[in-house]
Amino acid sequence: MCGIIGYTGSQDSVPILLRGLTALEYRGYDSAGLAVLNEYGQIDLVKKKGRIAELQKALTDICVSGHTGIAHTRWATHGQPSDVNSHPHMDISNRFAIVHNGIIENYLMLKQALMNEGVLFRSQTDTEVIVHLIAKFYMGDLKAAVRAALKQLKGSFALLVLCADNPSSIVCAAKDNPLIIGEGEGENFIASDIPALLEHTKKIYRLADAETAEVTPDGIEIFGADGQRIQKAAQLVDWDVNAAKLEGNESFMLKEIREIPAALANTLARYTGKSNPLLTIDKKAFQNIDKIVIVACGTAYHAGLVGKYAIEKLVRLPVQVEIASEFRYGNPIVDARTLCVAISQSGETADTIAAVKEAKARGCVTLAVANVVGSSITYAADYSIPTLAGPEIAVASTKAYNSQLMALYCLCAHIAKVRGTLDKTALRAFYAGLKRLPALAKKLTEGDGGLIKLAASLKNEHSIFFLGRGLDYYVAMESSLKLKEISYIHCEAYAAGELKHGTLALVEEGTAVIVLLTERAIAEKTLNAVSEVKARRARVIAVAPKALDLTGAPIDKIVRIPDCPDLFAPVLSIIPCQKLAYYTARARGFDADKPRNLAKSVTVE
Ligand code: M6R
Repeated sequence: MCGIIGYTGSQDSVPILLRGLTALEYRGYDSAGLAVLNEYGQIDLVKKKGRIAELQKALTDICVSGHTGIAHTRWATHGQPSDVNSHPHMDISNRFAIVHNGIIENYLMLKQALMNEGVLFRSQTDTEVIVHLIAKFYMGDLKAAVRAALKQLKGSFALLVLCADNPSSIVCAAKDNPLIIGEGEGENFIASDIPALLEHTKKIYRLADAETAEVTPDGIEIFGADGQRIQKAAQLVDWDVNAAKLEGNESFMLKEIREIPAALANTLARYTGKSNPLLTIDKKAFQNIDKIVIVACGTAYHAGLVGKYAIEKLVRLPVQVEIASEFRYGNPIVDARTLCVAISQSGETADTIAAVKEAKARGCVTLAVANVVGSSITYAADYSIPTLAGPEIAVASTKAYNSQLMALYCLCAHIAKVRGTLDKTALRAFYAGLKRLPALAKKLTEGDGGLIKLAASLKNEHSIFFLGRGLDYYVAMESSLKLKEISYIHCEAYAAGELKHGTLALVEEGTAVIVLLTERAIAEKTLNAVSEVKARRARVIAVAPKALDLTGAPIDKIVRIPDCPDLFAPVLSIIPCQKLAYYTARARGFDADKPRNLAKSVTVE
């Protein structure tokens, strides 16, 4: 949540900061602002409520430039979106400016203490205490002042600090929030996330918890919690700079849906190639266990449910899937004989990282499935394996989900092999089935498949229900999340057999019910639920494989998907649902890439 970018070098920082903010807008878009050290040694501050376009507009009326600057795009936590609550925040003497991502949990106490000392606050944010603390502790050494201020803070932060006395340096710090320093030539960059750096450099340093750094045009100095200088090896990012650009597509979400076949193929290739990451994991992690617990949030949680189904079916090992935020406070029953698998696209989701730490503390071996290489979760877990979806910019996750499924199928097959529950022939057939998925997915990602028309017919619904059994229920949950988060239509997913235990009361004439019907063995049972909603005059839309004969079924519209083994159908059946969500949001006039109230990486609790 919240995008951060900083620049110091020989160029004018303002256009660089604005481009960086644009690349990071998916992290939050309630307001945006920047602070730049001008040629007179003062800090110029411009900040605006609303999207980055508002900030750009404000900058056309005033002349701001300088070689060192920091900027921020906000997802509000403390204090509503407004000009004054936007970052950067400055101290009263206007010598210091900071941008911050995270939450300062003890800010009320700190604020009161500072106010008692006569400090005047301008905003309602938790962040503002930090800049006043830095100003209070400053005795001519910015790094020392920042370290002293950090000692007072409880909570999480990634922050950049500018000081009018240090014209070409930015001091930064991180705790439980990502912060990356990008190394250029005669210029350096700092950002909360890789996409903002891709156009400048692929050489990065990631700040670990409690580390601070001083970044100047010619140097990057990193310090441990004790203030001692530490050496870090640079990481090279292998993402293509264009992957984070629209490249002629009307939106990132649609572009990312179109990238699903490649994301599936890349992920499978890694798991079936020479550098299969599963082979680096000690086999005991899969052998010496009697259960698996999967922790994740949102879409990743839904992927975990499919993973559970596959592992329980093929490995016959109990798998529990837990919402990460519930797991961490739920006194979980896990121990050294539990493998904890954490799934996260960003690798920065605070609750998922905390769940990994909790599982570790209770003796579990932990394994992260993450899309962003080198993200915090990959350090928090004992092992990490990648999904290769490439950068996902749209807030609504699409290709990352499909890649997570692919990685989980491969993990499942690997565990089955290690534990001897699938023989060679079965494994070969399993991988052959996976190999067909990218091409089958391509058939679904091309064209609109009649979904634009369907979306137009759904756009004025107040409520839409999704039904399914087994795997189809899990896809129904993900489909429902996708549609509600970008179209703002109320959606609910129900296990088909559960509907009549209460929710059927909400179905009336014309209510739209979307039913997933890919598990052939239980399709008949699901059709009973279809008959029940049809008897209440619902409008039924089904997503079903070509080969499923639905002649005479009480269904108004069938969206067909290619045939594949039932176990793999979630990879395909979700695609028309993702597209339907997109087209419905578009038909309602909403920006699907940036749904209201949401942000891409949920780095706060
Ligand atoms: O980065 P993560 O996979 O950990 O994010 C978890 C959820 O916040 C995320 O999947 C969210 O539910 C999706 N953006 C919804 O489309």
